[in-house]
Amino acid sequence: MVECGAKHLIYVSRSAGKSKDDENFLHELQVHGCRTQTFAEDVADSSLIKKVVQNAAKPIAGVIQMSMILKVQGTWNLHNAIPGKDLDFFVLFSSLSGILGQIGQVNYAAANTFLKAFVQYRYSLGLPASVLDISAMADIGYVSNRPSVLAQLRCAGMQMLKEPDVLDALRLAILRSLPTPSAAYETTSTMATGFHSVSNPAHLATAVATDTSILDDEETSGELLAIQIGKQLLTFMLSTESEEELDLGRAPSDMGVDFLVSIEIRNSWRQSFRSEITVLGILNAHSLKDLGKMAAKNLKEKFERRNEAMK
Ligand SMILES: NC(=O)c1ccc[n+]([C@@H]2O[C@H](COP(=O)([O-])OP(=O)(O)OC[C@H]3O[C@@H](n4cnc5c(N)ncnc54)[C@H](OP(=O)(O)O)[C@@H]3O)[C@@H](O)[C@H]2O)c1
Repeated sequence: MVECGAKHLIYVSRSAGKSKDDENFLHELQVHGCRTQTFAEDVADSSLIKKVVQNAAKPIAGVIQMSMILKVQGTWNLHNAIPGKDLDFFVLFSSLSGILGQIGQVNYAAANTFLKAFVQYRYSLGLPASVLDISAMADIGYVSNRPSVLAQLRCAGMQMLKEPDVLDALRLAILRSLPTPSAAYETTSTMATGFHSVSNPAHLATAVATDTSILDDEETSGELLAIQIGKQLLTFMLSTESEEELDLGRAPSDMGVDFLVSIEIRNSWRQSFRSEITVLGILNAHSLKDLGKMAAKNLKEKFERRNEAMK
């Protein structure tokens, strides 16, 4: 925000400005010409926000609500205490769990759904509001600091976002916060980022069954399958490594694949590629790329034989 010209920022959190990291960060902002105020208090306390408004060095121009807990009460408190007519934006951070659901996290999912309804409510009052549903963040925030949660979400197929992705989305959420006149509820200020389609090697096997020429280009098809095998491998190993970091030149054994993981891969290979590979074949493979080529060759031969027999 400072890079975009913000000159005054107020931080409200229970520990705002208290840690050494916060001190360094606030100093950095000051060096860039931004004045900051911190209020180390609980957003659940309704009198706090009034205090913030009264003590703000400048009239408040925008609000970004990012607390993960107390989304509902915190948002109401911000809404009640900050005069909305003068705001340029009122951005609420939400999670894809409000759209997709999340096992064992129904309260969190419900709170995120509430935020979307709250945007609608503020719009009905002619007040700015926008909501940003994000998937898991790999490099900053709550999830990135908890490797087991990160691994669990990766295994569930959640796409990981990085800080620049969220900053881009935030910029859009700020720009789209003002209410647009409309008779019906129609808004461009409710947005989500972090959906992705999951490619499944079994789909490729189905396509090859009808047209084996799909695998004529050995290099490309081998690489494609190597990526799929690599992704499965990361999942089986509960690795925190991202798909983008996959090095297809690496040997499975270098990546930490052991006998048990090899059995998982062999079973998945049977299901996805409808062919056989031995556990030793996996453990001794020189690279993921080699495994990909092997899978492509197996698939092609299998379906060519089958098509020949059907003639
Ligand atoms: N990180 C992710 O992967 C992810 C994914 C989807 C959605 N989101 C959403 O993005 C937002 C930010 O997430 P995050 O990962 O940055 O969360 P975070 O690391 O837990 O940070 C939340 C911030 O809220 C403050 N806070 C918490 N309770 C508060 C309270 N009662 N009063 C005042 N401040 C309070 C915390 O500071 P104090 O502890 O000092 O109070 C902290 O600065 C959240 O709304 C979250 O739901 C995050």
